[in-house]
Amino acid sequence: MAVDVILGLQWGDEGKGKIVDVLAPNYDIVARFQGGPNAGHTLKFDGKKFVLHTIPSGIFRDHLTNLIGNGVVIDPITLEKEIANLKKAGVDYKSRLLVSKKAHLIMPTHRFLDAATEASKGKEKIGSTLRGIGPTYMDKTGRNGLRVGDVISPNFKAKYEALKEKHLGLLKLYPSIEFDLAAEETKWFDSLATLKSLPFVDGEYYINEAIKSGKKVLAEGAQGSMLDIDFGTYPYVTSSNTITAGVCTGLGIAPTQIGEVIGISKAYCTRVGAGPFPTELHDDVGELLRKEGQEFGATTGRPRRCGWIDIPQLRYTIMLNGVTQLVITKIDVMDKFETLSIGTHYSIDGEKTNALPYDLCDQEITPIYEEHAGWQKDLTTTTDYVDLPLTAKSYIYRLEELLEVPISIVSTGPNRKQLIYK
Ligand code: GDP
Ligand code: IMO
Ligand code: MG
Repeated sequence: MAVDVILGLQWGDEGKGKIVDVLAPNYDIVARFQGGPNAGHTLKFDGKKFVLHTIPSGIFRDHLTNLIGNGVVIDPITLEKEIANLKKAGVDYKSRLLVSKKAHLIMPTHRFLDAATEASKGKEKIGSTLRGIGPTYMDKTGRNGLRVGDVISPNFKAKYEALKEKHLGLLKLYPSIEFDLAAEETKWFDSLATLKSLPFVDGEYYINEAIKSGKKVLAEGAQGSMLDIDFGTYPYVTSSNTITAGVCTGLGIAPTQIGEVIGISKAYCTRVGAGPFPTELHDDVGELLRKEGQEFGATTGRPRRCGWIDIPQLRYTIMLNGVTQLVITKIDVMDKFETLSIGTHYSIDGEKTNALPYDLCDQEITPIYEEHAGWQKDLTTTTDYVDLPLTAKSYIYRLEELLEVPISIVSTGPNRKQLIYK
């Protein structure tokens, strides 16, 4: 099978960017299939740090093509900034970064609508990244959207103006928010020059022809499966299909092309933004995870909520995605812990279960924990599985047993080289 998938099994920020960068040399093409600049994928190597929002995480590997697929929503202003960073770092991206003509564009008024709808929700707000994601996908499914391919059409400006007018009308329905339309529009139209400098492709033909000629593709997910529009903790979700099924619609490939599905999970759990999180810790342990894991959002800088690893949640997303192998990241974050816990089941109305209820918001969920001894050893320089302390091995083994999927890689630090192949 030609297309392998890397995606997040929790609420995002599992370390997808790092793992894509690590595995990318095994592939010819890395393709983002959904989401937009709500994503922040962090890569660290050779003393450098990059945070990618729209550009696939294969961009730093020479000779590899990176495709922004049709399922992605692009803010050309953010893309321009990302490209400026690549230029500054001397990365030769020019012929290696392609954009699908069918990807949709985020306009400045999409961002304003995002902010206005969030403001109107008061305490119920989603905690959106305010990058205009929801309103852009709404225009896509509402059949009003602007696509990358439209940028070169003679009536582009007219289409833009019509959609902008619609947005300005909608904004009147919400609490007023401050925005400088003229300034943002100038930036937006200026940034289109950078977008237009990239090759536009019919992504579906491009990728299928590549597959036919024997090329290998790695599909890079954004967000996490618990933020999936259909199966996540609705309404506290994002607006795209973040699960494996999204690869087919987000790139234009058949399900029969999908091979390995590599699910990424932290050795604990985090969430940024609002919504249910059964194993969240509101105590010193949660604070320690945040401190040791430097759990602050790569896109918005917001502190991430932290808690123990949640087995019912992971079994659910493993099922949805057809995960064939697991990568456990950030195990080093728990190096100092005397003990650690695994949430093995939920107790709901006195019943023990490992199934997620219809609505996690409506239920009083009490996690049932199993306690493990910590290893209290620095794992950040361990590269060989045999050198792991017994307690760390038994934690990993117990996760495999509970999740019923093999763990292929354990990540022990943010750097490209901090990895253990199991
Ligand atoms: P993504 O959105 O899934 O790509 O993840 P983010 O980049 O938003 O967040 C993951 C954070 O953890 C980043 O700051 C990474 O540099 C960092 N990271 C990734 N893997 C590890 C790891 O194994 N250990 C530690 N300590 N940090 C890691
Ligand atoms: P990566 O790819 C973590 C969260 C937001 C909010 C909800 C909806 O870096 O893992 P949106 O802006 O999509 O309307 O926000 O989803 N969210 C993420 N959380 N990582 C992400 O991406 C996220 N993208 C969106 O915090 O709760
Ligand atoms: Mg992130």
